[in-house]
Amino acid sequence: MSARPWPFFSVAPMLDWTDRHCRFFHRRLSRSALLYTEMIPSAALNRGKAAHLLDHDPDEHPLALQLGGSDPSELAAAARIGARFGHCEINLNCGCPSERVQKGAFGACLMAEPSLVADCVKAMRDVVDVPVTVKHRIGLDRDESYEFVRDFVGTVALAGCRVFIVHARNAWLKGLSPKQNRTVPPLRPEVVRRLKQDFPDLVFVLNGGLRDHEQIRAQADGVDAVMVGRAAYENPWMLARCDSLYFGQDDPIESRECVVESMRAYAEVQVARGVPLRSITRHMLTLYNGCPGARRWRRTLSDPLALATAGPALLSLAIPTKAGAHPQEHADIDDDRERDLERRES
Ligand SMILES: Cc1cc2nc3c(=O)[nH]c(=O)nc-3n(C[C@H](O)[C@H](O)[C@H](O)COP(=O)(O)O)c2cc1C
Repeated sequence: MSARPWPFFSVAPMLDWTDRHCRFFHRRLSRSALLYTEMIPSAALNRGKAAHLLDHDPDEHPLALQLGGSDPSELAAAARIGARFGHCEINLNCGCPSERVQKGAFGACLMAEPSLVADCVKAMRDVVDVPVTVKHRIGLDRDESYEFVRDFVGTVALAGCRVFIVHARNAWLKGLSPKQNRTVPPLRPEVVRRLKQDFPDLVFVLNGGLRDHEQIRAQADGVDAVMVGRAAYENPWMLARCDSLYFGQDDPIESRECVVESMRAYAEVQVARGVPLRSITRHMLTLYNGCPGARRWRRTLSDPLALATAGPALLSLAIPTKAGAHPQEHADIDDDRERDLERRES
């Protein structure tokens, strides 16, 4: 395992999903998976919003920062800030197809400008010591020629990028929403394996459509590492086996209940600082997916009144396996809360 050139398993950057609370939650489940921030526009960081945008708990590490942008000097300044905040990698987004991002001339449309991407990578590498990596697609629109992505990788590698995270489908820049762009263009993981064959000294991370550990086992031959997005968010419990499966380490947590109790302690601190409880619980709704009581868990944790009345104790109260811990009505929540307070005070 230690011979691997790159952390084998990472959780993908996902806008509005992988915020600091989500990452703290994921880190309860795996100590070693590499986590990514949401994409942060370099311009926003340079406008002095760094403390707000990059603040995180040291316990989230190893943590990579994903930047969006296409101006080499602006990206360099943002990368420097990112490294100062302790991120272990700076990643450039060359895969987002959204129209808003295209208007800013970054994201997936940068794949049409490999020399500019190379300039961006070089500018960032010149100012930070941590690795600068690129996340991209395998092509644009309906062009499925292998040469396009091969030349993109070849040009960007000349600027010193060693790690390519490849979402193994094209980005269709016109006519599809970002969501459709994650399902409609066909997945072609064989392209990533071919890139690895053509550039054996570079690191290729396969991303796209990996749903579970079985699929990862089946698909990971011929690449260096995998990145999982939606499956990790929709079934976070899959992360609980990553450390033993991929990093040769003990898994950090024995049960979902231990995760919940640990998140409750975190929520108590965050809520005291003014963070809405819902900002934390919204990432945990899928923790019990596939288990009895999953629906009730979700419903309880998204009930505004329950969140407001029970506070962080709601997390413990909502655990499906606890007898009587499924407050269907707010009176029940109040009873449970009382009992919980009594238990804690005694
Ligand atoms: C809600 C959501 C937000 C996303 N935001 C980003 C982003 O900020 N940067 C990025 O590079 N990719 C983003 N992606 C794409 C994912 O990183 C990943 O490449 C894609 O979902 C394919 O992987 P998966 O099939 O494992 O989900 C996002 C995906 C989702 C579902």
